[in-house]
Amino acid sequence: MQSERTVSRRGALGALAGSVVAIGCGGSSQSEAKNGSGGAAGGGSGGASSGGASSGGTSSGGAASGGAASGGTGGNVASCKLTPTPGCKITDDNILGPYYKADAPFRADITDGKPGTLLRVSGTVYGCDCVTPLADAEVDIWQADDAGAYDNTGYVLRGRMKTDAQGRYELTTILPGLYLNGSTYRPRHIHYKVSHPEGTSLTTQLYFQGDPWIASDAFVKDSLIMPLVESIGPSGAKEYSVTFDVVLA
Ligand SMILES: [Fe+2]
Repeated sequence: MQSERTVSRRGALGALAGSVVAIGCGGSSQSEAKNGSGGAAGGGSGGASSGGASSGGTSSGGAASGGAASGGTGGNVASCKLTPTPGCKITDDNILGPYYKADAPFRADITDGKPGTLLRVSGTVYGCDCVTPLADAEVDIWQADDAGAYDNTGYVLRGRMKTDAQGRYELTTILPGLYLNGSTYRPRHIHYKVSHPEGTSLTTQLYFQGDPWIASDAFVKDSLIMPLVESIGPSGAKEYSVTFDVVLA
């Protein structure tokens, strides 16, 4: 486990680490560690963290090929009413944190003109067999801005979307910044609440392979770490894309 995290430090985010000086939004008094109210801090839906190489080193793009679908710790699959799929794992949960706001607007672009590195997030929400896409699932996302601050008065960098007929969602945002949680920075992350009428709701977070702050964070689960793909956009600026599939129990 540790070795995978060590390897991940060499990833795409490594070059960014030194340039980030953001101080947290609210400091330790509002830390996610102290105020996180969703999910168990250390215990996922399936218990101890696992995931490992299949989660952190494999581009998802399908439930069977990697990402959350195969990297989870194996949640409540026993209750699945769909035909079981060998190796299928329910996506791990993760802490809600103190910055969730209900009723975010439905939209696929949450950048709101905020400066930062463009990040395109996409994925598929699956049922508990890891292969049945869930159309009309609600994906509710919130994150910090480039300087590590959450908008707690409005809905900047917050949004909801519904999955399409293939269970897919797509989001345009910026790479979230770092903020202090106690004496250490939380790694860059995007918060998720995913729900579907035929499945349970899930609160989790997406992390990025290569983030040097992953190793010291108390909440990261390896199954939730996805690789960033770097590219050059039409304007010549660097941008990233990431795929994060979700399997609901
Ligand atoms: Fe957060």
